[in-house]
Amino acid sequence: MAAGKGTRMMSSMPKVLHPLAGRALVEHVAGTAQRLGARHRVFVTGHGAEQVEDHLRQAHPGQALGFVRQEPQLGTGHAVMQAMPLLPDDGLVVVLSGDVPLIAADTLRGLAQACDGDRLALLTVVPPDPTGYGRVVRDASGQVTAIVEQKDANDEQKAIAEVYSGIMAAPTRWLRAWLQGLDNRNAQGEYYLTDVVAKAVADGVAVVALRSNDLAEVAGVNSPAQLAELERIYQRRQAERLMAQGVRLLDPARFDLRGELVCGSDVQIDVNCVFSGRVELGDGVSVGANCVLSDCRIDSGAQILPFTHIEGEGAGVRVGADARIGPYARLRPGSDLGPEVHIGNFVEVKNSTMGTGSKANHLAYVGDTQMGSGVNYGAGSITANYDGANKHTTIIEDGVHVGSNCVIVAPVRVGAGGTIGGGSTITKDTPPEALTVARAKQISVANWKRPAKKKP
Ligand code: UD1
Ligand code: MG
Repeated sequence: MAAGKGTRMMSSMPKVLHPLAGRALVEHVAGTAQRLGARHRVFVTGHGAEQVEDHLRQAHPGQALGFVRQEPQLGTGHAVMQAMPLLPDDGLVVVLSGDVPLIAADTLRGLAQACDGDRLALLTVVPPDPTGYGRVVRDASGQVTAIVEQKDANDEQKAIAEVYSGIMAAPTRWLRAWLQGLDNRNAQGEYYLTDVVAKAVADGVAVVALRSNDLAEVAGVNSPAQLAELERIYQRRQAERLMAQGVRLLDPARFDLRGELVCGSDVQIDVNCVFSGRVELGDGVSVGANCVLSDCRIDSGAQILPFTHIEGEGAGVRVGADARIGPYARLRPGSDLGPEVHIGNFVEVKNSTMGTGSKANHLAYVGDTQMGSGVNYGAGSITANYDGANKHTTIIEDGVHVGSNCVIVAPVRVGAGGTIGGGSTITKDTPPEALTVARAKQISVANWKRPAKKKP
């Protein structure tokens, strides 16, 4: 169910598209349903339907997703009714909410087993305060007989602590029949999905309640504060998983993973780092405080110093073994740095390779460049890779020394072992082993008198 508006999010974006750990709420649910091995995944959309459907199609390319529209939204029973034509009789339906992102596949597997093709299985919880939820009503023998919504409950029912989580598994053929018999004669004038419980009882179908002790996994998101709360819980769980694998997080409460992080042994991550996409950290890698890393591979022993940004979206970024990056460095897509490369503060690298041991330690730009090994690239130097229309390649061969404040205008090749004098603007290929200087010659004018201020 993903048709609700989410008024309390106070956002123009449909609620189920708000991200948790970098992925839309509904994507989390879609992923869990896939892990469950669902034969069909049907999304009931309504508010922002087109946006929600487009998002899901893009997030799960090539996967068969079913969409049905619920317009207007007449209640949860009405929502599930829309999906039934897409579901074959010989299965079971697991009803999930697009705004309940942390539900675990294992829990749902348990629920499906409890349903076992011919029972109605409800996931229930006992929250600290049951107000607002549907209460699970049982008879004297403890058998579940109904779910009664808050607004329809009498005082005795309101005192029940066990509530319906919003998640159930039901035999499809039975659910179809029960939904056809629903009405909206209740306090909210809605078609309640929860009314199927009483119908199951009337049809002699067993109703089982499976109790979850994990309140977070059934928690829905209704407000920015609740979203932030679930984000922290989710991050904490990811942090704990990584620590259990031996990753050293200096503070698991200040760690954010919005994708996949694969770590070797003896990896250390300082506070306030954000990882997204797929990031691989080799053995012994350390990441300093306040780094942002996405879609990159950092080889063993490399050090990423504080405040470094590594953005590999698309072409990826690789940092070689024992390299030292930062502080305050920026590596952009297509940066492929060899072992022992040093990149210092305020250096930007984009779509470039740098060979073993090459260094750019201060205030520099390296773009669309093939740089050999053992190159020293001076402070303030840049490759001018863009002529206003097209990008061009710079080749800097092994052992080159580029002085400070040089402009290397591409396309151009700097020959192996050559030296470029500081302040040069290089527009032509330079020969190997030579000193090349391309700047105005220094002159001195003797006894030069500076102009003096005219007297009034
Ligand atoms: C529902 C249950 C209640 C349970 C609670 C748990 C019913 C009648 N009640 O109540 O027993 O304790 O969840 O959170 O089911 N939605 C649609 N179309 C609609 C109505 C809702 O798609 O017409 C979606 C919502 O966007 C949401 C989900 O269904 O994702 C649940 O709806 P919501 O209104 O939050 O249910 P509650 O009234 O809280
Ligand atoms: Mg409601």
